[in-house]
Amino acid sequence: MRKIAKTLALQIPVVKNWYASLQQERSESSRRLEELRNENSRLLNEKERLLQERDELSQDNKRLRTDCDTLSQERDMTTALYSQSNELLQAKQRECAELAQQLASTYKDFEQSYKREALLRQHVNLLDMNRLDLLSAQTNLTARIMSKIELLQSSDFEVRKLLLAAQSNHRGTERMLQLHENSSYLDLLENVLTGIISEDEPECPHAPTGFDPDVRLTGRDWPKTALTMIGKARLRNFRTLIETVIDDAIPGDIIETGVWRGGACILARALLKMLGVKDRTVWVADSFCGLPEPNPVLYPADEGDSHHAENKLNVPLDEVKRNFERFGLLDSQVGFLEGWFKDTLPSAPIDKLAIMRLDGDMYESTMDALSALYDRLSPGGFVIIDDYCLPNCKHAVSYFRELHSINEPLLEIDNAAVYWRKESHAFALAIKSPSEED
Ligand SMILES: C[S@@+](CC[C@H](N)C(=O)[O-])C[C@H]1O[C@@H](n2cnc3c(N)ncnc32)[C@H](O)[C@@H]1O
Repeated sequence: MRKIAKTLALQIPVVKNWYASLQQERSESSRRLEELRNENSRLLNEKERLLQERDELSQDNKRLRTDCDTLSQERDMTTALYSQSNELLQAKQRECAELAQQLASTYKDFEQSYKREALLRQHVNLLDMNRLDLLSAQTNLTARIMSKIELLQSSDFEVRKLLLAAQSNHRGTERMLQLHENSSYLDLLENVLTGIISEDEPECPHAPTGFDPDVRLTGRDWPKTALTMIGKARLRNFRTLIETVIDDAIPGDIIETGVWRGGACILARALLKMLGVKDRTVWVADSFCGLPEPNPVLYPADEGDSHHAENKLNVPLDEVKRNFERFGLLDSQVGFLEGWFKDTLPSAPIDKLAIMRLDGDMYESTMDALSALYDRLSPGGFVIIDDYCLPNCKHAVSYFRELHSINEPLLEIDNAAVYWRKESHAFALAIKSPSEED
């Protein structure tokens, strides 16, 4: 027993230890159990949350599936549309290819016809240029022929006068020689004033280079230093008409409106002096500073006229007077009207005119001169329009003649200038062509 008790006693601390370790294990297990409980409740919570999430996900999934269905439907529709449009596209591509082919062949045709047209256009241009060249050559030729006719007519007029003088009385031959001498002097003066004698070069920008006697005959260039630009034929016409009014005793002075360097007026004064005419004045009307700027409001025909910009047309009064002096012809039978025609001509101290020579280039200048002076022109007197070839000047003349019912025939001088004789009963008979006179 004791042995057993001893053994047991020996066993007590072991049991105690065992019991203590059991106690420890139990408390450890309790703690562990507590922890597991906690863990369990956390897991339960987690499970709850996951279940919720799962529900939500399942809802999302449902929605996504619906979306997916819709998208699938849309995709099917789009695929169907795509294949339709693909078919259409292919059809269009085929059409385009056909059209491109057609276009290419049309383009080829077009290119060919365009080339043909360009070629034709070149031919037409060439023909046009030839036609214009021919026309201008024809115009020049006409001007030259007409100018020569003017000279011939005036020579004829001179010869007749010489013959008449020769037949007139016992001193006829003497008179004829005198007239012949006068005429030679005037011929020389014409050649000096036009620059023919000095072969004066042209300086007008549009003129041919170098002196050409035929061009100077028709007055189609502006001489560099000579005193008139109207050319020999128009100068001769002026001379013949002055002689005519003197022979026919048409009363009145002589005026040129637009004188430039004064050459034509110098010839007129020389003629009066040579014929011993003391009761007529040569009126020299000019701004002496060129042409006015166009006034298209009052005179639409002058719109765009550029003569006012030509500095070469500005010749001061002193220079013109000096030109008269150089010929010994500046005296009381020369009157100067300085200023614009609209200001000077209406109040000019002129009673009667036998000749009015208008050379102001523009509508306004022509109309101002006609309106201010025509009433003072004696019947049987002459109006010379130097610039009738310029459309605005021609327009003014036509309008004035129509307005005043002037029906006297316009006579051409050199395919540029014209003149008419103011009719009176006596002189209506005198206006005859040379052939009628024969
Ligand atoms: C072509 S030039 C005359 C040429 C001149 N008859 C000759 O024998 O050479 C024109 C002239 O007209 C003048 N003129 C033009 N219109 C005028 C106007 N309205 N008033 C004054 N002078 C004018 C210019 O000053 C210029 O001198």
